[in-house]
Amino acid sequence: MIGKLNHVAIAVPDLAKATALYRDTLGATVSAPLDQPAHGVTVVFITLPNTKIELLYPLGASSPIAKFLESNPGGGVHHICFEVEDILAARDQLKATGARVLGDGNPKIGAHDKPVLFLHPKDFLGTLVELEQA
Ligand code: CO
Repeated sequence: MIGKLNHVAIAVPDLAKATALYRDTLGATVSAPLDQPAHGVTVVFITLPNTKIELLYPLGASSPIAKFLESNPGGGVHHICFEVEDILAARDQLKATGARVLGDGNPKIGAHDKPVLFLHPKDFLGTLVELEQA
């Protein structure tokens, strides 16, 4: 069902430092910071030859990243995102196996202007999984 790895998202406590680490130490191509108020994050996109890394920093009071950083003050992998061809078909297939979809179960428009869903980490080996329609 799942296709390409679309991105790995890392929550970071200091966006400038994290960006410099990827740009200067690892030699990656990084974007300018982009505020995404609808998602409560500021994102830096790191483009790799075969996938992307997204550095997530909290934006606004109710950012979903803030709690994660409280538990992981040094930052950490927040979620991984797989592409699927048909997000509604994927959702229904997963729900039929008992997997839990977060929120109201309906896709939202994600960081790349495509429909996304999140799956409960307890159902996926402790990893928050995002599905994005390819
Ligand atoms: Co994501």
